[in-house]
Parts: sequence; C-alpha cells; structure tokens
Amino acid sequence: MRDYKIPDQLKQFITADTIVVRSPGRINLIGEHTDYNEGFVLPAAIDKAVYVAVEKNPGTRLNLQSVDFNESIEVEIRDIKPVPGHWSTYIFGVVDQFIRKGQFVTGFKLSIYGDVPLGAGLSSSAAVECAVAFALNELLQSGFSRKELALMAQAAEHQYAGVKCGIMDQFASLFGKKDHVIRLDCRSLEYEYFPLELGEYVIVLFDTMVKHSLGSSEYNIRRSQCEEGVMLIGQNYPSVHSLRDATMEMVNECIGEFETAHRRCKYVVEEIDRLQKGCEDLQAGDLIAFGKKMFATHDGLSKEYEVSCKELDYLVDNVRNNPAVIGARMMGGGFGGCTINIISKDMVEELVAKLSEDYKKDMGKELKHYLVNIEDGTSVIGR
Ligand code: GLA
Repeated sequence: MRDYKIPDQLKQFITADTIVVRSPGRINLIGEHTDYNEGFVLPAAIDKAVYVAVEKNPGTRLNLQSVDFNESIEVEIRDIKPVPGHWSTYIFGVVDQFIRKGQFVTGFKLSIYGDVPLGAGLSSSAAVECAVAFALNELLQSGFSRKELALMAQAAEHQYAGVKCGIMDQFASLFGKKDHVIRLDCRSLEYEYFPLELGEYVIVLFDTMVKHSLGSSEYNIRRSQCEEGVMLIGQNYPSVHSLRDATMEMVNECIGEFETAHRRCKYVVEEIDRLQKGCEDLQAGDLIAFGKKMFATHDGLSKEYEVSCKELDYLVDNVRNNPAVIGARMMGGGFGGCTINIISKDMVEELVAKLSEDYKKDMGKELKHYLVNIEDGTSVIGR
C-alpha cells in the first residue's frame, strides 16, 4: 500500500483517537451497464478520493460534518432515515447496514471531505459509502471482509439513495490496485488484476459539466427493461437467469417484437462479449483494437441503451477521427458526467485547448478535464 496523505481540510478534526480512511473514485475502461446484468466490468480506482475522520462519541449520538458542504448535523442513531439528495443519506445508509447485520453501533463523530467531483460519473457516492463502511468496520472492530463491505455499501445506495446500482463502483473503490485494472465477474465476484500498460498514451477524462440528475430514475428503468428481457427469454430458455446467460440469437428470437427491450438487451449482450475481447486486446498489447471497442461501446450506449446526452456525444464525436485519440466513450451511468479517452501523451495539451474552445462555442459550457492516475483502493491512512 502506498502512503496517502491526510488532506489539510481534515486536519482540524483529528485527535489522538481519530481513524482516517481514504476511499477513491473510479474509472471504467469498458463494460458499462453490465454489472447488474451479471456480466463483467473493467474498472480501476483513481487519484481522487473521499476521506473520513471518525472517532467514538459517548452514548448514541452521531455528529456529522461535511467540509465540502460546510454543514454539520447531529442525530440520534435511532432517528436515522433516508434523505435522498443530501450528503448524509450515504452515511446513514451505511450505519443502517451495520445495524441490520446485528452490529452494535455506538455514537460517533465523523468528518468528511473529498476531491471526487460530484455528479461527474466518477462514483463519488460509492467512495463515500466505502469510506464510511471501512471506517466503521475499524472503529467498531466488526471484522467484515472487503467483499462484505462492498455489498453493504451497495445496499446502502439501493435503500438510502434509491439507485438500484450494480456492484462495480463499490467494488472498484474497495479493491483498487495501483496501476492495475480489475476484471470483475459481477456474478461470482471473482476478480483478476491486469497491469494497465499504456506506453505513450494516457487516460484523460472530459467532464461535460452536465450533472446526471435525471440519471437515477432512468437508471432504474434501464435495469427493469433488462429484467423484462430476461423474463421473455426465460419463457423459452428456463436456464437463462440474467443477460449474462443470453446470446444474440435468443435476444432476437424472444424479444424481437419488443422494440425497446430488444435494443436494450442487444447492447448488454454485445457489451459483455466486447469486454472479453477487449481484455484479450489488452493482454496482447493491442491498444488500438481496444480503443475501437470503446467507440463501439459509446455508440451502443448512445443509440441502443440511450443513456448518453448531446454533450457526451459531442465530446466523443469530436475526437473520433483524431489520430491522437485511440479510444473514447461516455463512462458510468450516463446522462452527463465524463467521457473517458485514451490519448497520445504528447498531444493532450493541444487537444484540450482546441476541444475546450469548441465545446464552449458549440455547447455553451466550460469543459473540465482530468488526467487520471490509477491508485490503490480503500485504506486507513492515519490513526
Ligand atoms: C453506475 C452504477 C454502476 C454501473 C454503472 C454503469 O455507476 O453505480 O453500478 O451500473 O453506472 O456501468
């Protein structure tokens, strides 16, 4: 594990009894909207993270302090409930998980700060949930494994934020490894690390600055459309329990007449296959072939899965024929957030300057960009 520094913003909250935990945001190279279909994903933890400082309180009171929102709240543990849209809901959701698992939760003081941009598709909410879950596990000596913590963090998102997310974000935050991507089988939760060797290329994210506020309801709709597809296929093929088990022939045969469900399921089945082939490209060092698959993923997400937006499409279309960019696509849940791009190191500066200017002119927004380094997952960084 690398030595990660405690950010200055949290130093004022630290006493002799404080535990400080860092939990990162994530990128995903390929395999989008496949996790809740029991497919594969290829994420990595990044150098933007959420940090929490916790210590016990006497009694059953929670004192929560958000540095980013400059807000503090005090609540009795028995009074916690979902407050979707508020930063505290992710913390309450995790506390609720500990209680449901039969853990005795004492009062605590928790201060939180992060530099994962919010609503940018980098999983700031999963980073919060994982940071809190890891910190409580240490504070209460609960002994949960990383896998259990990932599942608890995901359940917190379902029940306290109302997003029926898959396991990718929480898993990537907790299991990240410096300079490696994780190939995660979302059915068995078996995983494998691959070194990401980019040579003369770097990963750059372009942030549309469109917040994915529509995202959570549309996200849940996509999930149920996939389930509908599985149900239809299951009538002819009872051994199919998820789109992971389905082939394109089954999709065509069983869902052919249901135009929307057909498009959604077609994208997912193709994407699960694309990821496997993309991993072979990476293992063979063929980044060019991998990059082409990223563009294909984008087209599927935009036209068939319909989770893109005009700003994301603009950013991808704009780099599509640029020889310095070998792959680009929208990343994460969609409806805003970032595109992920693999770009020739020497050309980044020039490209960012030109794209920012064009984006401003055509979309009327300031473009942000982040050069990404791949880092370790959740850990205690001070006690
Ligand atoms: C969000 C969800 C993930 C995953 C992605 C899409 O980030 O939290 O579980 O489904 O969208 O791949």
